[in-house]
Amino acid sequence: MNKRLVPIVVATTNAGKAREIAAALRGLPVRVLSLSDLGISAEYPETGKTFALNARGKAAFYSGLSGNWTLAEDSGLAVDALSGAPGVYSARFSGPRATDDRNNRKLLRHMRGFPPAKRGACFVCCMVLARNGRVIKQVTGRVRGRLLDAGRGAMGFGYDPLFYYRRLGRTFGELLPPVKNAISHRGRALTKMSRFLPTILEK
Ligand code: IMP
Repeated sequence: MNKRLVPIVVATTNAGKAREIAAALRGLPVRVLSLSDLGISAEYPETGKTFALNARGKAAFYSGLSGNWTLAEDSGLAVDALSGAPGVYSARFSGPRATDDRNNRKLLRHMRGFPPAKRGACFVCCMVLARNGRVIKQVTGRVRGRLLDAGRGAMGFGYDPLFYYRRLGRTFGELLPPVKNAISHRGRALTKMSRFLPTILEK
């Protein structure tokens, strides 16, 4: 007999993130829906000063609109030498016409002259599950690495080519998706969330 699949909305318009989240939820009895599957085009203004505020706001907002369990996250890169920047501004680091390439070039300019020991950085992902406008669960995943002075690898998205992960001797841009997902900030947040999800799916 087919198990009942519980619909879960993944509230992101970032294709890279949507792919990673859908892959991580594959083993669970859920049916992953996107905002566009539901015809939701309203945009949540991400004006929070922390990843948690943005993720909570987004999850509550879209769960109210969708009427389904809704998963939202906010993530970004916090660079030690830049006092945590670009942080919540990671997507728009290079301005309103930001692209991954422009963001990476701006980051490289800011990091010019810093020796390897001062190039530490952390990817952070705050992930929130909400229903009917109410936050039910919040988890955070982090991974530390070092910024190179030139990009390597064409996989992933965002700052992946600059983010060197010492234990594997590769940048995130050089990792196959399942390898990145097993160690990344989003993967770690998803592992925590996936442990919690069965408790709601059984209800
Ligand atoms: P958000 O859509 O406002 O959460 O923006 C997150 C931004 O942080 C992305 O656009 C990327 O620039 C960066 N980012 C978050 N997660 C990753 C990742 O896994 N790899 C590379 N960059 C990431």
